[in-house]
Amino acid sequence: HTVAWDPVAAEKGEFRHFMQKEIHEQVRALTDTLAGRVDFDNGKIRLPQLNLDAEGAKKIKKIIITACGTAAHAGMVGKIYLERIARIPTEVDIASEFRYRDPIVDADTVVLAISQSGETADTLAAMEEGRQRGAKLWSIVNAIGSQAMRVADGFISMQSGPEIGVASTKAFTAPLVDLFMLAVLLGDLRGTLSEKERFDLVADLRLVPDLVGRCLDREDEIIPIARKMKDAAHMLYLGRGVNMPIAYEGALKLKEISYIHAEAYPAGEMKHGPIALVDKDMPVLAIAPLDPWYEKMISQIEQAKARGGSTLVVATEGDTRVPDLADHIFWVPKCPWLLSPIVTVIPLQMFAYHIAAQRGLDVDQPRNLAKSVTVE
Ligand code: G6P
Repeated sequence: HTVAWDPVAAEKGEFRHFMQKEIHEQVRALTDTLAGRVDFDNGKIRLPQLNLDAEGAKKIKKIIITACGTAAHAGMVGKIYLERIARIPTEVDIASEFRYRDPIVDADTVVLAISQSGETADTLAAMEEGRQRGAKLWSIVNAIGSQAMRVADGFISMQSGPEIGVASTKAFTAPLVDLFMLAVLLGDLRGTLSEKERFDLVADLRLVPDLVGRCLDREDEIIPIARKMKDAAHMLYLGRGVNMPIAYEGALKLKEISYIHAEAYPAGEMKHGPIALVDKDMPVLAIAPLDPWYEKMISQIEQAKARGGSTLVVATEGDTRVPDLADHIFWVPKCPWLLSPIVTVIPLQMFAYHIAAQRGLDVDQPRNLAKSVTVE
């Protein structure tokens, strides 16, 4: 009598799919992301592989973040961090656009590529475009030794470990923390932060793994919401400010693995078109944690509700207004608002995962998609 041994299945351990395993690995991945880089005692960030000193940091006039897919959504949060914390003008450019756009780049520009695989053809071409125009090249990369790591002048290595599921999860939250650390380091070197601000930002980082763990602990609450929504034809994801990119990322997760049409919008744009879509058949998912855009999000949710759409809301534990407005709530712990995207994305990853799993789809290998797109 022999027992069939499937080494790949064995690696999944207690989980049904790699994606679910990788969602749960985020506590570990984020702990490793901070390890050795954050000096809590002195309120300092160390990213030695960037090869950056104060003179180099002060020279930077502009950062262009270039990436594809999920990595580009991380970059959209990064723009807010780099502008707010380090006061450096930052653009986010989809790599397949940047490479053909005749961009304005010079020696005082940093082109910062973000890539899980480090082998995405468009991202590598965007880096090459930056190189040709004399920019400094940085990368935030997961795959050690990949091209995007090798060609960069400096890099930050994600500590996510191998990601197998095509839909990226742990390689989304790690670069968010990397970008936050980068912004603090640049702010420190450029003198845009007071000592107290720097200490406070660095101290906030310590909370991240536990906050993510507390979101994961609520997985059982998400499964019945996924069951309710799994036959939806469409969904509209809304976010604002630092959580606007999370609307895009949440919608992308749903599209990729559940094949449900999901559209993301910056909530303030609703009145310029998408509100026309809202009726009883258009569920609206709103990301409304206690951040500076909370009041604005509440009024968006009220408007969606008034038009009969069912409302799903990511809200902060203890919030007393959302329960009156939401048909379903994804609770997240209270956290410093700049770090809230790292927290709010977790229930959206689990939501997409459980919808796809309940629909019986091939979560780790969705149709038509590849983990890394090495051709144009
Ligand atoms: C593919 C994957 C996405 C990923 C994107 C960028 O489309 O399916 O999950 O976000 O490539 O990949 P990269 O390896 O450059 O982060």
